Amino acid sequence: MKVADHSWLIQQAERFVKQVHAGEASGHDWWHIDRVRNTALDIAAKENADRTVCELAALLHDVADEKLNASKEAGLEKVRAWLTEQAADEDLTGKVMDIIANMSYNGGKNPPMTTLEGQVVQDADRLDAIGAIGIARTFAYSGAKGRIIHDPELSLDDLAQEDYRSAGKTAIYHFYEKLLKLKSLMNTPYARELAEQRHAFMEQYLQQFYREWGSRNP
Ligand code: ADP
Ligand code: NI
Repeated sequence: MKVADHSWLIQQAERFVKQVHAGEASGHDWWHIDRVRNTALDIAAKENADRTVCELAALLHDVADEKLNASKEAGLEKVRAWLTEQAADEDLTGKVMDIIANMSYNGGKNPPMTTLEGQVVQDADRLDAIGAIGIARTFAYSGAKGRIIHDPELSLDDLAQEDYRSAGKTAIYHFYEKLLKLKSLMNTPYARELAEQRHAFMEQYLQQFYREWGSRNP
C-alpha cells in the first residue's frame, strides 16, 4: 500500500512541478527537473539510497528557488504546504524539506549534506550543471540575463572582483566561478565517476573555444 501511495504522490509532484516551471527558459525548465530526477534515481540505485526520498526531493528541488519566489522561505513554505495538502507522511516530508532547504550551491559555502539521499540529489543537480548540458544551460542563463559570451580583454582576476561589472560577468567566466569546481564537490563515488567525463568535456570545449577565438586561455 505504501509503495502505491508514493507512486501516486510522485505523479502528483510531476504535475505540480511542470506547472511551477512552465515558461521558465533560463535553465530551470521542467526538463532540468526531469533530468535531475533520472540522474538521482541512477545514483540512488548505485549508492543504495532511498528511491522515494530521492525522486520526490529531485522533483521538488527547484520549486523553492529564490529566482521563482519572493524569498527562499516563501518558496520552502510553498513546498511544505503542497506536501501537507497531499497528506504526505511526516517522515517523508521532513526528509524532503531538509534536502531542498540545504542543497543549493551558494558558492560552495553551504555545509555538506548530512543524509545519503541529500548527497545523491545534490550530486544529480550539480551533474546537470556540467558537461554538454551544463554548457547549454550556462549560455541560456547568461543570454536571459543579457550578458555577453566572452570578453578577451578582461582577466579572470578582473571578473572575480565582486563589484566589477557584476551585472556584466561573462558566460565564460561562469565556468571558472562554478562549473569547473563542481567535479571535486561531488558527494558520492558514482557521481564523481559521472562528473569526470563531463568535466573533461568542458575542458576540451574551452580549449576549442579559445582556439576559434584566437586568444590565449585567460
Ligand atoms: P541549479 O541549482 O538548478 O543548478 P542555478 O540557479 O544555480 O540552478 O543555475 C541555473 C543554471 O544556470 C545552471 O546551469 C547554472 O550553472 C547556470 N548559471 C547560474 N548562474 C550563472 C551565471 N552567473 N552565468 C551563467 N550561467 C549561470
Ligand atoms: Ni536545479
